[in-house]
Amino acid sequence: MPQNRRFLLVRRPHGSPRAEDFALETQAIPPVPPGGILVRNHYASLDPAQRGWMDDAESYMPPIPLGDPVRATTVGVVEASDNPDFTVGQWVMGLNALEDYSIAHPGGFTMPIDVDAVPSPSSYLSALGAVGLTAYFGLTEVAKPQPGETLLISGAAGAVGSAVGQIGRIMGCRVVGIAGGPDKCRRLIDDYGFDAAID
Ligand SMILES: NC(=O)c1ccc[n+]([C@@H]2O[C@H](COP(=O)([O-])OP(=O)(O)OC[C@H]3O[C@@H](n4cnc5c(N)ncnc54)[C@H](OP(=O)(O)O)[C@@H]3O)[C@@H](O)[C@H]2O)c1
Repeated sequence: MPQNRRFLLVRRPHGSPRAEDFALETQAIPPVPPGGILVRNHYASLDPAQRGWMDDAESYMPPIPLGDPVRATTVGVVEASDNPDFTVGQWVMGLNALEDYSIAHPGGFTMPIDVDAVPSPSSYLSALGAVGLTAYFGLTEVAKPQPGETLLISGAAGAVGSAVGQIGRIMGCRVVGIAGGPDKCRRLIDDYGFDAAID
């Protein structure tokens, strides 16, 4: 019988998370509640936001309760459905947890995705997920740089920063990135097309 392995948050980290802050639990696959769906997770994203959710602090989202699985955006396949909007075998993304199987509820963040349109289903956790959307809308709707302007990006070798730089180039900006170390700086220029890098 397949089972649900999941990583629980059992202690709030101080500074960097440590292995003792988490516990691996194995449980029976949860039953599908009325109107819900069961998702078999194939990919999970590890994002800086998760560290914030581990703190008992006010934020745009409630903290992960101690003893709960670690919240994470996942991409997976609908394994069972009691919801007419989701069919078994359909690929979905959603805010679930670091676990094999998640229960998603209607009206939540879970949405169908088209995996044939992308190189890998995991693209929905990077360029087509919160990383890419943050980069795109942060730049085009908040920063709004004009062609010919110089765009200076901190954290430029990270997931969001590297996307911002590439979009900035498409918008006609001169793009300069700040990153830690010669390897990251080289990657900014050689792989992502930045005009210059500051180590
Ligand atoms: N609101 C949203 O929906 C949303 C979505 C995605 C991301 N974010 C936020 O955007 C930020 C970047 O996310 P990401 O996914 O790109 O993270 P990431 O891939 O981990 O990259 C973060 C970069 O920050 C730099 N960095 C790390 N510690 C630093 C420090 N103490 N001082 C200065 N730079 C430091 C690192 O670059 P170097 O080692 O080269 O310095 C790293 O490459 C995070 O704060 C994240 O929470 C928000």
